[in-house]
Amino acid sequence: MTAQLATTTLDIRPMAPNIGAEVLGIDLAHPLDDATVATVRAALLRWKVIFFRDQHIGPAEHIAFGRQFGVVTPAHPILPSIEGYPEVLPLSSEAYATQDPGSEIDNNWHTDVTFSLDPPMGSILRGVTVPPYGGDTLWTNLVAAYEGLSLPMRRFVDGLQAVHRNAIPSAAAAEIDSELLAQFLKAARRSVHPVVRVHPETGERALFVNPFFTESIVGLTGSESHRVLHLLYEQMLKPDYIVRFRWAPGSIAFWDNRATAHRAPTDVQASGFDRYMERITIAGDVPVGPDGFTSQPA
Ligand code: SIN
Repeated sequence: MTAQLATTTLDIRPMAPNIGAEVLGIDLAHPLDDATVATVRAALLRWKVIFFRDQHIGPAEHIAFGRQFGVVTPAHPILPSIEGYPEVLPLSSEAYATQDPGSEIDNNWHTDVTFSLDPPMGSILRGVTVPPYGGDTLWTNLVAAYEGLSLPMRRFVDGLQAVHRNAIPSAAAAEIDSELLAQFLKAARRSVHPVVRVHPETGERALFVNPFFTESIVGLTGSESHRVLHLLYEQMLKPDYIVRFRWAPGSIAFWDNRATAHRAPTDVQASGFDRYMERITIAGDVPVGPDGFTSQPA
């Protein structure tokens, strides 16, 4: 029997000039036709993160939706999945309050799994239990951030590489559920990535460092590396490059992990509300820099 395909006319509504669009007129509970998949992919590439509302689907449909855009990976290289669905990563507010209040830069910002040699091309996050207020997620457009740098600065960072690792920055570790932290840290993973990544589909250049997983820039002194990274983090966290999303039950966010960083909320725990999300990731390729440098294990 042929599965019924959902043929739709999509309404793509941008949310901010640089990043984020809502996709209306789609039902993710059913397989999409090729034209709809192509339109969704084009919206993802253009807006970097796209949002769907009122999609009351379960883990099986979540995975099936992801498979229309590539190979859905195991939930995480280190962390456990939910029972029965090895592709689905549970994200609960209790386990993930990771911001280090003492750091200069908000280190909750990250691109997913960049300690791996081939970080995911995209992530799809589904709101299951959502607080009545608070718990928003933020994304930044790393292509716009790169393009906002001066030409001499772009030329400088184009030729740099950075070490990424699965450590948790400083005091942030103390905030994380200890069993989860032990699991996360037990398998050491390190990769060297270009600081600027050429997007394999659009050819755009994007900054490819993040406060959570990037350790240092190769070949610079500790102090130089710290200052250059700090400058890049300040650049990528400029409000003009950022979109903020208010979740509701059934909301879904799909982001291009090659062109964005995001910030999980830290305001839920104190509010006393529960927040529970499920995430899948789509397999990505090994990053390549503007000078042809291809990521390597560190
Ligand atoms: C994530 O960091 O992948 C999850 C973000 C969130 O829970 O808002």
